[in-house]
Amino acid sequence: MEIVRSIAELRARLGREPRVAVVPTMGNIHEGHLSLVRIAAGHAPFVVTTIFVNRLQFMQGEDFEKYPRTFEEDCDRLASAGNHLVFAPDETEMYPEPQVFAVEPPPVAGKLEGRFRPGHFRGVCTVVLKLFNVVQPQVAVFGKKDYQQLSIVRHLVEQFALPLAIVPAETVRAPDGLALSSRNRYLSEAQRAEAPRLNEALREVKRAVESGDRNLEALEFAADALLARHGWNVDYVVVRSRRTLMQPEPGERQLVALGAAKLGATRLIDNLEILAP
Ligand code: PAJ
Repeated sequence: MEIVRSIAELRARLGREPRVAVVPTMGNIHEGHLSLVRIAAGHAPFVVTTIFVNRLQFMQGEDFEKYPRTFEEDCDRLASAGNHLVFAPDETEMYPEPQVFAVEPPPVAGKLEGRFRPGHFRGVCTVVLKLFNVVQPQVAVFGKKDYQQLSIVRHLVEQFALPLAIVPAETVRAPDGLALSSRNRYLSEAQRAEAPRLNEALREVKRAVESGDRNLEALEFAADALLARHGWNVDYVVVRSRRTLMQPEPGERQLVALGAAKLGATRLIDNLEILAP
């Protein structure tokens, strides 16, 4: 597997590849990321994974400094999953001068995750557009684990008419239901045992809606209360339209339950798609 650090070298190397699929990541590669690589390999003969911890998408006081950086292990895992090239620029390569141009996402980026992480999606959109310009892929794979990110990136690609296809990937979970995440490593043993409850709460919302309960507010409230009773600090548990991520229209069927909550200092997110009857 090739490792490339500079934009110039990457451009020269990818000039020979007619069709490239990219998997943007911030590293600390786990099975969730590897599933994206395998999906990417089904869409193009050459797969590039990018590893770059993007300062622009972290707020003051978030975990940018202590975000796990595990480059050697990441490369071993990516190689065994069939990834062809890792693009791992440092900050001076990606941002040689302060990034004063930015992609301003629409108001939905200020809701849900954006409400609790102001500016987060501006940072995500800016780096994703830049990575797309650098790699110039035909396909990019994003996980549903970050549902709002996937939705915003799709919208970005559509509005700027970027010549690539976004492929969504299902969330990979531990056997007990906890969605794999680089942040799971911050959990204590007791918190790790408690962590699957976020998914359980969303599963209960899904079960209820799919069996005909349309009292979404009551279901959201019950999920929130369940988590709070078990010591979680809940940011939100909501049912939204998959299409707009806003309140669903009466009778709208393609829904998604989204949750974000903290166990101690660790903030976890999860979601489940719902098909209402
Ligand atoms: P990161 O958190 O490293 O995630 C990289 C990709 O892996 C994202 O598309 C994310 O949705 C996906 N992913 C994470 N956990 C997953 C799981 N359990 N199952 C399936 N896919 C999973 O998301 C980012 O990085 C950054 O915001 C980035 C897009 C790279 C921009 O900096």
